[in-house]
Amino acid sequence: MLLSLLPLLLLLLVRASQASHFLGTMMTYYPEETFTDGSVSVVLRYKLNFVSCSHSDAWQCNGNCGAQTQTLNLSVVEEVSGEWCQREGAITRLLPNNAGFETLLAGGDWIYSIQNGILSWRAVTAVEMRNRSDIGKHNTSPQTTILPALRIPSNCAKNINLLAFDPDGDEVRCRYGNTSASECDPCTPPSVLSVSSNCSLSFSPTYSNTELHYAVQLVIEDFPTQNMNLIQTDGSQEVKTTNDAISKIPLQFVLKVGPPVPSCEDGAYLPRFLPPTPENRAQLFALAGQALEINIRAEATQSVITGLLYSGPYNAVKNSSGSGNFSLTWTPSASEGGQSHPICFVVQAKVTLSPG
Ligand SMILES: *[C@@H]1O[C@H](CO)[C@@H](O)[C@H](O)[C@H]1NC(C)=O
Ligand SMILES: *[C@@H]1O[C@H](CO)[C@@H](O)[C@H](O)[C@H]1NC(C)=O
Ligand SMILES: *[C@@H]1O[C@H](CO)[C@@H](O)[C@H](O)[C@H]1NC(C)=O
Ligand SMILES: *[C@@H]1O[C@H](CO)[C@@H](O)[C@H](O)[C@H]1NC(C)=O
Repeated sequence: MLLSLLPLLLLLLVRASQASHFLGTMMTYYPEETFTDGSVSVVLRYKLNFVSCSHSDAWQCNGNCGAQTQTLNLSVVEEVSGEWCQREGAITRLLPNNAGFETLLAGGDWIYSIQNGILSWRAVTAVEMRNRSDIGKHNTSPQTTILPALRIPSNCAKNINLLAFDPDGDEVRCRYGNTSASECDPCTPPSVLSVSSNCSLSFSPTYSNTELHYAVQLVIEDFPTQNMNLIQTDGSQEVKTTNDAISKIPLQFVLKVGPPVPSCEDGAYLPRFLPPTPENRAQLFALAGQALEINIRAEATQSVITGLLYSGPYNAVKNSSGSGNFSLTWTPSASEGGQSHPICFVVQAKVTLSPG
């Protein structure tokens, strides 16, 4: 009897995990080469976050999509307890001319019990490839990355400064997705988190005793710092003012809120970073073919540091040397040379509250 029950149970479990498993995505792009016949190539790098590493999904393309010349499934970073798996990929497209296109990820569903009522996933990237009159080349999107899930104790007011950088020197602005513009399905923001255009997120305490999950669906855009023209291969031009976004990329993740901690002070229950950890939004320089080592140190007097989670270039390598000491080593490949690559990390700590 037990034997006949087991397969049924397994089947149900598999169905459940396939129906409800998404924890967000992000995508950035870099122009690669312009050819004498007017065709241009662009590389789109993305992260896809699911509960299990066996899940994946594909981006659709609308507009001047040209041909997909290369698809790389670069790497997988898995959270040790099985909470999530982040997969990185890169798509190279060869466009017949420099008109832009949109690429879209759509499907279902996000993980269970998302408080802001999001079931289906939808993320859109708008790629602008026309020549810019101000910098004399094609646009590069803002560069960013994020972990699939961020945790905040429900009683701690916190600001999170997202990693958002533009290699062209444009102004980067963040906002929630817009449902009417089909940027997500739907875009209802979490009531507990507000976003500033400077990409700082502000969490308002909820004091909830149980862990609650929210889908955070952001759009990041780059704005020129002075008016400029976009020039198409056929010579036609369009003016972009400082209020016109050039490109847009999605940044989506899960915010996990709660339970509360006895103190919100950094370094007590919540870990804090110590030198030589680089500052938030620090820019480091690395040579292709040479290893860059980033040393990270964290402490928490009232909890135990259990690990470092990171989201970065696919060829970064993590090392733990115990007692809150970690390193990330990255040796840029030749194809990554001349570009900016985002990397973000958090340390995870476990609170062991003694009774009484
Ligand atoms: C990468 O993954 C996608 C989605 O699963 C798949 O369609 C594609 O064939 C894979 N590409 C390579 C080079 O393995
Ligand atoms: C872009 O425009 C600049 C002048 O505005 C020109 O010098 C350059 O060759 C153009 N580049 C491409 C790739 O069309
Ligand atoms: C949302 O998108 C719609 C359709 O593109 C647009 O008309 C509206 O102004 C946008 N809303 C905001 C707040 O930007
Ligand atoms: C971002 O903007 C918010 C509110 O507009 C402000 O409080 C905060 O200091 C700004 N953060 C940075 C890093 O500039």
